[in-house]
Amino acid sequence: MTMKWHRGKTIWFTGLSGSGKSTLASMLKNILESRGIPVVLLDGDILRDGLNRDLTFSAADRAENIRRAAEVAKILSDAGHIVLSAFITPMESLRIAVRNIFDPARYIEVFLDTPLSICERRDPKGLYRRARAGEIPAFTGISAPFERPANPDLVVPTGVQKVEESLSMLLSYLERRFSDLASFSAGSQSLAAVGYRKRVAVIGLDGVPPSLIFGEASGELPNLKALMDHGAWGPLRSTDPPITVPAWTTMTTGKDPGELGLYGFRNRPDHGYGPMETAHSHKVEARRVWNYLEDAGKASVLIGIPQTYPPVAHNGITVAGILTPGIGSEFTFPPELAGNLPDIARGEYMTDVSDFRTANKDRLLRDLYAMADRRFNVAEHFLINENWDFFMMVEIGTDRLHHAFWKCSDSDHPLHDPQSKYKTAIRDFYKYIDARIGSLLGRLMDETTVMVVSDHGCRNLLGGVCVNEWLIKKGFLTLRNQVHEETAFTHDLVDWSATKAWSEGGYYARVFLNVKGREPSGIVDPGEYHSFRDHLAKLLADITDEQGCGMATRTLKPEEIFRSCKGVPPDLIVYFDDLNRRSIGTVGTGEVLKPVHDAGPDGANHDPDGIFIVTKMTDLRNGTKKGREIIGASLMDITPTILHEFGLAVPHHMGGRIINSEDPDAMRIAMGAARDADQAPEEEPESKLGYTSEEEEIIRKRLADLGYI
Ligand code: ADX
Repeated sequence: MTMKWHRGKTIWFTGLSGSGKSTLASMLKNILESRGIPVVLLDGDILRDGLNRDLTFSAADRAENIRRAAEVAKILSDAGHIVLSAFITPMESLRIAVRNIFDPARYIEVFLDTPLSICERRDPKGLYRRARAGEIPAFTGISAPFERPANPDLVVPTGVQKVEESLSMLLSYLERRFSDLASFSAGSQSLAAVGYRKRVAVIGLDGVPPSLIFGEASGELPNLKALMDHGAWGPLRSTDPPITVPAWTTMTTGKDPGELGLYGFRNRPDHGYGPMETAHSHKVEARRVWNYLEDAGKASVLIGIPQTYPPVAHNGITVAGILTPGIGSEFTFPPELAGNLPDIARGEYMTDVSDFRTANKDRLLRDLYAMADRRFNVAEHFLINENWDFFMMVEIGTDRLHHAFWKCSDSDHPLHDPQSKYKTAIRDFYKYIDARIGSLLGRLMDETTVMVVSDHGCRNLLGGVCVNEWLIKKGFLTLRNQVHEETAFTHDLVDWSATKAWSEGGYYARVFLNVKGREPSGIVDPGEYHSFRDHLAKLLADITDEQGCGMATRTLKPEEIFRSCKGVPPDLIVYFDDLNRRSIGTVGTGEVLKPVHDAGPDGANHDPDGIFIVTKMTDLRNGTKKGREIIGASLMDITPTILHEFGLAVPHHMGGRIINSEDPDAMRIAMGAARDADQAPEEEPESKLGYTSEEEEIIRKRLADLGYI
């Protein structure tokens, strides 16, 4: 690209909070940079976090804020940069002072003229609501003045324009005024390439049940509600089992857990009695949605998606999700990104909170907010600064929040305390997440489809079932030595010559049979496999509760629920009392039923229904299209839907459907989604890669803390 000579300039954006200063400035930055022009963005929020963090919003401090910002802009533009300054700059006296320090030939003032009522309706950071509630003093437009600019060089009516229109207006003004900014060189990004490009942004929230978003609470979640009001939404059926790994991996591959050979956080590597292996990115043999997009030349920003550690090289960036051993491990792609993350996150980046079953709920709540705040800061940064086609982030904090605080708000919970000081903890966190989503939405171009998705839902937890204790009592499982205190179940405890079945714990149970000729010391005759398994399933389903009443326990056979069964599937999957009770793997107590009081400070189990919302930004901004509920979507549908949004063919082997927000009734089986589908060639798993043995142990301990084992 030929670099044309040009001189530094300052473009000063003035306007109310929420008028679109940062958004327009960052979009303009992308375009100018693609033309080889050096650009620096100075943003009020960012300067106030650093250089100007000593300043308040008093009139005097605002003047000082603007003075410093203008001095910095002057140094940078004198050095040849195009400086885009985004500050409210509420008073005319401030604007005049700024203008006076610049060479008039290299300075322009742009007024983003958006009525207060519209800024307030958008409320991207939730600040207007808080200002109205009296929580923020001297808030511009509410309790502090904003003078209309008297002499702006350009007025952009951002309130009545689409973002692309505003950008186009701004760009053509700048090109007319400063010929050295115009795009002559071949290969430079044109508006068509930057502004009107199809994009998909997926905002993942772990473990969100429909009741929290679609129910009455939606009145308190204005951004999610607006997405629903102008898009398609409904429950999103999880995988069996409804658990973070493999649910997100199904969501991002279009393949079910059997096809993936991923039946939980940890999986048997073979039919031996060795330790289970933790699911990491290299265990995903199937291609993920961003691999298909990369084939089509598209770039992806991936933040916090479970099972993306260790990160795999791709066209774009990755910040790995949960199951990252620690931020000391190489958890970003490209690796050097990790060094900048604390700055971008404005604090230490957290892939997960530690120990969500702690009794110290104040500490946990603080960590949850810190984690989400930093993740959204990172998301927002890359949303603005990366040139992406596909963006996907997953916030795990919602799931951790539910496990810790569900009993505080759900009056049906056996341990519900109506006086709890955490009564509104869940609702408050969702309000915060909603505001952060609003801020992301404010930065998306019109040609973007937004999806809000969840991998599973959440429900009350009524107690636990110690499945291995039950197997021992029934004589199906024999330990080598008696265990007298509660002990994690490990394979070295087992007398395999006298064991027919054992189970892994976690929120659901995975029961394995010890089959002759399959397991090293198997004793279940292969000829009796089916009858024994049916017998066992019946006995499990007949386990009664403390009062001797039946439970709604369900047992599932992998070959009946998955399209194929790769790897080592469990012989049975068990949902005790239809997931009202969690499965517990430990041995030693002699008790089968654990009342919720003893199950630790974990008040929730997973539910099969998560949520989805699919909305086009144009529809959200036009506000005319009416939203519609769609029933029957599943995680399997998300990858086909994303591919379809980009106009790409859905591979024949995917079993999901396309969620059609244009025409919900047309949600249809993806073309040729036959079961005997031709398999696309898949990459060989790089099984050498993954966790070191120390990391494997760190993860195992963490999963045990989290209740997954
Ligand atoms: S200015 O008035 O001094 O020009 P500046 O642009 O730096 O403001 O900062 C404005 C940003 O600070 C807003 O976008 C908003 O996020 C945040 N903010 C926090 N408190 C206030 C307040 N009282 N008034 C206006 N903005 C505020």
